[in-house]
Amino acid sequence: MRDYWNNRFNNEGYIWGEEPSKTVIDAKRLFALNDVKTILVPGAGYGRNTKILSDTFQVDAIEISTEAINLAREWDKRSYFIEGSIFELSTSNKCYDAIYCYDLLHLFAQIERIKLIETCVQHLNKGGLYYFTCFSNEDESFGVGQEIEENTFEYKKGKISHFFSEDDLIRHFKETEIIETGKVEEVFEYSDNSIRTYKLRYIYGQKK
Ligand SMILES: C[S@@+](CC[C@H](N)C(=O)[O-])C[C@H]1O[C@@H](n2cnc3c(N)ncnc32)[C@H](O)[C@@H]1O
Repeated sequence: MRDYWNNRFNNEGYIWGEEPSKTVIDAKRLFALNDVKTILVPGAGYGRNTKILSDTFQVDAIEISTEAINLAREWDKRSYFIEGSIFELSTSNKCYDAIYCYDLLHLFAQIERIKLIETCVQHLNKGGLYYFTCFSNEDESFGVGQEIEENTFEYKKGKISHFFSEDDLIRHFKETEIIETGKVEEVFEYSDNSIRTYKLRYIYGQKK
């Protein structure tokens, strides 16, 4: 996983451009309404989405790729970037008022997805908020490659993706207070000039 992402950031730089996701604008509004002060961003990449949060909140971001971290520390000088895996985030670390996690969850098999959510929820203060996005089962790449678990496909050697239906997403977060789920489309233009529209789902909720 680490090598794959290091190669991509090394070759493609700011892979998804400079604009933040519309979901982070929505999350920022919701977090501000709820008096959030501190945020954790797992799988932050080069800080495309942390930058708009760190002008208002105190942001810690954890990212596995050294190449991404190097870009991020230049791109967003206000967030604090931790190099490492979200799975290694120690329970003794501090807790946050909110977590924003863009397109990390679908990169894992079921056991790890549940562990990822548990780790994140453990690092929320009581009543803390979360906002996650992930691939939707309505995305055009659903079904591409070998199905290794239900709705999880190995679409490149060693690279898997899970595609969420709304019910599936709700089941993943059943230990939390789910406030809202929805769909969102994101369009990216890549460095080779190809354009791709992704169908995502988001879930917004709260630690019980
Ligand atoms: C699809 S990208 C999304 C990047 C970023 N959220 C954005 O929107 O620009 C997934 C990111 O998660 C990082 N990542 C993958 N596994 C991780 C892990 N176990 N812990 C922390 N980051 C991870 C990758 O290096 C990559 O930057």
